[in-house]
Amino acid sequence: MNNIVWHPHAVTKQRRSDAKGQRPLVIWFTGLSGAGKSTLAGALEEALAGLGKHTYLLDGDNVRHGLCGDLGFDEGARRENIRRVGEVAKLMVDAGLIVLTAFISPYREERDLVRNLLGEGEFVEVFVDAPLSVCEERDPKGLYKKARAGEIMNFTGIDAAYEAPLNPEVHLHNDGAPVPALVEALLGALRQRGLID
Ligand code: ADX
Repeated sequence: MNNIVWHPHAVTKQRRSDAKGQRPLVIWFTGLSGAGKSTLAGALEEALAGLGKHTYLLDGDNVRHGLCGDLGFDEGARRENIRRVGEVAKLMVDAGLIVLTAFISPYREERDLVRNLLGEGEFVEVFVDAPLSVCEERDPKGLYKKARAGEIMNFTGIDAAYEAPLNPEVHLHNDGAPVPALVEALLGALRQRGLID
């Protein structure tokens, strides 16, 4: 970062969050494709919006149409995907928002990198834990089938690794529980940590 100096501006993160009456944070959903990350993140966002919170949902499939449209699925590309998303999430936290993200984010190192970009208590890692067999059975986009047939390479859980979180703030077993119950569990976890009122 030679010759580039950070410019402090008058309107601060504190002022922007105060104006929204909330604590900004990132709720980071991680898990296999088909585990239910997007569904749960969307349902939690709706619940938070219903509580008057200002939110934004960054979803892997959507972000890969724009900001990360140039990235594939080899290890380097996935690391870069998460690095970019982490930086965007950090900017959104600086803007005072409650950010929800839904990315496979298979590598511990990159998830921790994002955690370390944020302040204490601002990163809530949610492990959406569904067995591979359940995700493969659901196969909402037909991608597991293609991966098994060798039509897609580097598919997480098939021929690419997924490193499960060791100490997530929230560990959700999503093998058939109703979405509203899981959303209540998530709201409870956020309240317990004093992140929402
Ligand atoms: S990540 O690994 O870089 O975090 P991301 O969440 O952005 O992945 O994108 C995952 C989505 O891309 C999956 O839900 C699936 O729809 C699609 N996809 C396409 N190819 C692959 C692949 N090889 N592995 C995993 N997901 C893939």
